[in-house]
Formats: sequence, C-alpha cells, structure tokens
Amino acid sequence: MASRESWATRIGFIIAAVGSAVGLGNIWRFPFLTGEAGGAAFLVVYLGLVAVVGLPVLLAELVIGRRSKRNPIGAFDALGKPAWKFIGGLGALAGLIILSYYSVVGGWVIQYIIGSLTGGYVADSEAFFLDVAMGWDTVAFDFVFMAIVAGIVALGIRNGLERAAKVMVPSVIVLLVVLAAYGATLDGASAAYSYYLSPDMEYLTGNFFSILPDAAGQAFFTLSLGMGVMITYASYLGEDRSLLKDSGYIVVIDTAIAFLAGLVVFPFLFTQGIEPGSGGAGAVFISLAAAFAELPAGNLIGAVFFIMLGIAALTSAFSILEVVVSFVIDSTDIERTPATIVIAASIFVIGIPTALDLTYLDLYDKFANNILLILGGMLLSIFVGLVYADGAKAELSEGSPLGASIAPIWVLVSAVVVPVVLAITLYFGVVEYIEFLRESFL
Ligand code: TRP
Repeated sequence: MASRESWATRIGFIIAAVGSAVGLGNIWRFPFLTGEAGGAAFLVVYLGLVAVVGLPVLLAELVIGRRSKRNPIGAFDALGKPAWKFIGGLGALAGLIILSYYSVVGGWVIQYIIGSLTGGYVADSEAFFLDVAMGWDTVAFDFVFMAIVAGIVALGIRNGLERAAKVMVPSVIVLLVVLAAYGATLDGASAAYSYYLSPDMEYLTGNFFSILPDAAGQAFFTLSLGMGVMITYASYLGEDRSLLKDSGYIVVIDTAIAFLAGLVVFPFLFTQGIEPGSGGAGAVFISLAAAFAELPAGNLIGAVFFIMLGIAALTSAFSILEVVVSFVIDSTDIERTPATIVIAASIFVIGIPTALDLTYLDLYDKFANNILLILGGMLLSIFVGLVYADGAKAELSEGSPLGASIAPIWVLVSAVVVPVVLAITLYFGVVEYIEFLRESFL
C-alpha cells in the first residue's frame, strides 16, 4: 500500500468491516454447523467463544492495523517486531485456501439465482443441490464468481463495495426477518425452536471438546478474524474513532445476522422432515429452496434472497483477496492488476477439487478455519498481550475513554485467557482433523 488512504466517510469503515464479516459464514456455514453439532449446544459454545475470544482478537487486529498503518506483514515491521511477520504469511495462506472454496459456494449462489428465476429447484430441491454443488459446471460458476471478485479488486473500487454493503446489510436483515416470521407459522417451528434454542446439557457436556473446534473456527470465520482482514481495514482508520465501539457494532451485527439465519433455516428443515444434521453443506440451500418453491411468488423472493446472499458473499470474498493482493503488491514490484489476475487464477486452480467433490470442500474448510485461523488468532493475541502490551493499551485508549479503562483487562485476557482457550481448541481441532482425514481418505 504505497499511499495511505483513509475511509471516505465516518461510517465507511464500519460498513466495509461489516461487509467483510457478513457473508456466507452467517447464512450458509453457521446454520449447517449448528445442525451438525446438536443445535442449541453448538449455539451456546459459539456465542461464548464470540465473546471470550472473538471480541479480544478483533480488538487485537484493529489495534495492530490502526497503530501500524500497514498491511498484515508490514505491520509487524512498523511496530518494531519483525520476528512476528510470519503471522501475516500464515494469514495469507489461510486466505488462499478460504477463498478457493468460498468462491465455489459463491458459484452455487449464482446458480441458485438462476434456478429461482427458471424454477430449477421447484421439483426437487435436493437433486438440484447435488447438481449445483459438484461437477464441471460448478467449476465454471466458481470461475464466474472469482472473475467478478478479481475484477472489483483489480479496479480497487472500494466505493462500489461500500455502497453495495450499505444496501446489503439492511436488506439481508429485512429479508431474514420476513423469512423468520414466515418460518414461525410453519408446522415444524416449535420443534425447531426447541432444537435451536434450548440446549441439551447432557449433549453439551458430553460433546464439548468435539463442538469446540467447529464453534471456535466459526467464530473466527464469521468475524473475518485470524488472517489480517481487520488489520488491513483498520490501517485506514483515523485516531479519533473508538475501536472498542466499532468492534461492538461489528460483533453485534454479525452475530445477529447469523442468529436470524438459524431462525429461518431450522423451522424450514423441521417442517420438511429433514434431519438437521443430515444436509451438511447443502442444508441451507436445500431447505430454503424447498421453502421458496412452496411460497406464493416464491421464485421472486428466492431470486431476491440469493442476490442478497451473492452480494454479501462478494463483499466478504473481496476482503480476502484484497489482503493477499496487498501482500504481493507490497513485497514485490508487481502491479495491482497483474497481481490480482495471477493470484485469483491460482486460487481458482487450488479450489477446483472442492468444486468436484464436497469432501474436499470440508477438507479445505476445516483446515483453514479450525487450524490456521485459530493459530493466527492465538499468535495475534499473544502479540498484543505479551509482546506489545504497552503500545496496544495506548492504541485502544486513543479516541476512547472507555477503551482506556478496558485496556488493562483486555491485555490480560489476551495474554492469558485467549491463548489458553485457543491452545486447547487447536489441540482438539488437530485431533479431529486427523480423524477426519483418516475417515475420508483411508
Ligand atoms: N466473514 C466472512 C463470512 O462470514 C468470510 C470472510 C471474509 C473471512 N474475510 C475473511 C473468513 C477472513 C476468514 C478470514 O462469510
């Protein structure tokens, strides 16, 4: 980043950060993981981790970004701790992997927009999903989605995205509220609510350590943490803003949208008699498409819904590619446009297996989220808690009296609580991942 811009409007940063956070993670990934891991039990662990780990790590990224005014690799140089630069590199790797399958799911969304308009999923939403999610046409739509993302990043139209996000977040909320209200009228609603909202304590205690990695991975994924997106976005911020307040907005809006998505998806699943854990990555697409097929003017509502989801996915995908591209531009002589093309093409190639087989999608997804993001978050937290504590406290206090009084507690939590929780999570994440590899490939 040769010239340091700053956000055009006061609200620009919040909108871009929320645009990055709100995406497929909230509406696709959250409900399907919740369904796989016992409903309310997962929700409880997830919400706990958002508060205990997500918020402190979000603050860590914002503090590092605004203090250094640099990209996630250069930041550690600027703060005088070059030995920690490898965290940025780890983030870039996570970004490559995440975007490679994120764009595949983005391609599914494009096919669902078309399917809504043509009635493609009306007859059999399950068969439609399998058709959409695997095969060479999936690869083709992955390419289309990736090309759009790359086009935007190459042009660097931050304004276009800011504007898109401004429309997107409120529309997603309105649409989800309308769908949730409709869901409440369905036969399966009460069974769904008890599954989603009243935790089975026995299940929770019995499965806590297997829920933990997925819940933590999701907390990081949905808040765009652990790979430097928030460092990059905060590097454009002025000192007059309260990072604490901003992080509160991001967490509350993002969590509310994920929670709403669950209120939509589970009544639909239960009403259709679909076992919540059975749909896997397809759960949300299958249940929503089936619901749209039933609704009066459902194809219109479906089209609007999937267009919103596509825009939400785009603003998130953009943020991931932007981080990787900015690494390359900063550390080599390559210009933005060729850098974007080469990186996007490489990511596309890396993602091809995930477009051909859902097992690979799971493989990439769990590795990046349950391992790389957790590791990145743990290191960032140790950095602000132990290595750079005084600077971090000073930065959180800038523009915020409340931040100043919270800063010592935050640094303590970052030094002790977050690393311990994440180390345990990482251990179980690795164990679970090895088991998953064995089950899938041996
Ligand atoms: N948070 C986005 C979502 O929920 C995905 C995302 C964007 C992301 N940037 C990220 C995930 C960085 C991890 C890291 O859809």
